[in-house]
Amino acid sequence: MPKSLKILITRQVFPEVIDFLGADFEIDYNESDVVLSTDELCERAASCAGLLCCLTEKIDNTFFEHCPTVRVVSNIAVGYNNIDAIEAKNRGVKITNTPGVLDDTTADLTFTLLMAVARRITEAESLLRQGRWKKSFAVQQMLGMDIHHASLGIIGMGRIGQAIAKRAAGFDMQVRYFNRTPLDATTEQKFNVCYVSQEAILRNSDFVLVMVPYSAATHHLIGAEELALMKPSAILINTARGGVVDEVALIAALKKNQIAGAGLDVFENEPAFNPEFLGLKNVVLTPHIGSATRSTRMAMAMLAATNLKAALQGETPPNWVNP
Ligand code: GLV
Repeated sequence: MPKSLKILITRQVFPEVIDFLGADFEIDYNESDVVLSTDELCERAASCAGLLCCLTEKIDNTFFEHCPTVRVVSNIAVGYNNIDAIEAKNRGVKITNTPGVLDDTTADLTFTLLMAVARRITEAESLLRQGRWKKSFAVQQMLGMDIHHASLGIIGMGRIGQAIAKRAAGFDMQVRYFNRTPLDATTEQKFNVCYVSQEAILRNSDFVLVMVPYSAATHHLIGAEELALMKPSAILINTARGGVVDEVALIAALKKNQIAGAGLDVFENEPAFNPEFLGLKNVVLTPHIGSATRSTRMAMAMLAATNLKAALQGETPPNWVNP
């Protein structure tokens, strides 16, 4: 049967996803995985009804102007700050995301970073790799910070924040959180977490985690003022979006030991990042791999494909963010 609708898949995905969508749609597939320029994206999407894309694609007014036939944009990510969802709604374009399937994997990575910074893992490993391990054991070698029984402050207590709190319980950590809307008492009890102000989190936590979606309201949520409130022994972890933390202010705070360290999986201008980070020993840096396990990325891509297919076939997509 001829396939009447065409879709653009902007980045490399899995063969299973191509098979799933290929059964119903004509596909223009950017299998090269080279990120498309705005012009290329608009040109290739102009003849399409839907888009399966990643946060590398900026879907804004320019895109909508050039691609009036696009009715659905399905993002392979839970965050969709790359898309102007309000403009999309005004134009009747459905936007979808992939919540839920990446919570545990992202919480795992967040905890990995927290532990790596606290226990100086990358610094210790490079000492060994560089042949600088001279004494088999030294009482004061590579002293880190305890994770067990430490205080953990989570700013943004959605699904991923809650998955992190679950892990923290295993380490007997004292977990406080701040969220626009506090959790109900039953959920607080379930995760053994206590609601406090953002300022109290910054002032009192050994570890501060930011887990908020990125928007104009959360741009540089953690800046010089907030960093100044943190304990000199505290560690900041960001696995949300780079723009939530003012990187220049963070580098300044790390350089003057205003805080003890940072773990970052996300940056303000990915894949670029401030080169000054490389000169700092007390940071652990990863290239936006929060949800990067095979099973989770497969689940995200399949969920995005399911959203796209449902919307193009006139059904309500499971994860429609701008109804
Ligand atoms: C990844 O960063 C996501 O938002 O899913």
